[in-house]
Amino acid sequence: MDFVTFKDLMRLSHGFQAARVFLSAVELDLFTALQNGGTVSQLAEQRHLSPRPLTLTLNALVAMGLLHHENGMYRNAPIVEENLVMGKGGYRGHIFRHISHCWPAWSSLSDVLAGKEQAPERDSLGQGDVRNRDFILGMENVTRELAPYVVDTLALENPAVLLDVGGGPGTYAEAFLRRYPSLKEVRVFDLPETVALGKENLGDRGQQAPIRWIAGDFFRDSLGSGTDIVWMSQVFHSLDEAGCRMLIGKAFDALNRNGELIVHEFLLDDDRTGPLRPALFAVHMLVLTGVGRTYSGGELGRWMEEAGFTRVRVEKVSDDTSVVRGIKS
Ligand SMILES: C[S@@+](CC[C@H](N)C(=O)[O-])C[C@H]1O[C@@H](n2cnc3c(N)ncnc32)[C@H](O)[C@@H]1O
Repeated sequence: MDFVTFKDLMRLSHGFQAARVFLSAVELDLFTALQNGGTVSQLAEQRHLSPRPLTLTLNALVAMGLLHHENGMYRNAPIVEENLVMGKGGYRGHIFRHISHCWPAWSSLSDVLAGKEQAPERDSLGQGDVRNRDFILGMENVTRELAPYVVDTLALENPAVLLDVGGGPGTYAEAFLRRYPSLKEVRVFDLPETVALGKENLGDRGQQAPIRWIAGDFFRDSLGSGTDIVWMSQVFHSLDEAGCRMLIGKAFDALNRNGELIVHEFLLDDDRTGPLRPALFAVHMLVLTGVGRTYSGGELGRWMEEAGFTRVRVEKVSDDTSVVRGIKS
């Protein structure tokens, strides 16, 4: 981020306004209501909204390029029509609804810095049915293209059993099965509420695939045994350092000899001041969980070596994410 002039700082500080307008439009599902176009009064009646605030908000969405406006009719821009019309196969509003649910936690950042006690709901990313649903289906929304891409980079050698810890919507499980026909079983370990959502997300595809859903809590339960690969994607950042070490230890126990642990995360550089995305994500996890943060490849790799993993290495697998992998020799 380059800040050279005062105007740059103004632009930075106003950034939340466009984000808020967009997130409220997603939350109120305005884009679904506009799939065939509509006027303010039609939309106000359909969604039980006040016409004046709605007009100002729709006009801002036009100014942002997310809606088009002609002769009193508002219509979705193509990117909105493709991603934010509920009921269409491509719907990806869950991730934005999840981001919107995180907004109050971000508003508490100054209080967090001042050491003030936070509301208990901050302790979970997805408390309550709707929030957890948006969180987990939001993970599907962001990994729809990413999962096959990342899985393709890993060059695994004919694994038979893979364990996906915190596998959420099952997107990675499905991508592994497509990419590696040698797989006889993919076990997806997650909290009971999430397992139900994952099964629902994969539907018939999941029933036909050799996926074994395991409802459990990795703080309390063993991760089993007899696996060739343990895959943990975007799980460590919600844990503190002791939690990361605990999970690495449980992965070690679950693996066969010569099996591999692969941890997929937004990784920080060693001095932890960048890149921007993981540095900001560390603050995201701070305000949401209190204990979580992002980690560097060096930190995770060191804890893996301490747990007994060898040939530990870090590999970049997408624009924003990397894996830390190690072998149980
Ligand atoms: C950020 S999501 C990552 C989902 C998926 N692995 C991905 O990369 O898209 C974190 C996952 O960890 C799961 N999780 C959180 N705490 C857990 C626990 N104590 N035991 C098992 N799973 C847990 C959540 O339910 C969620 O599916």
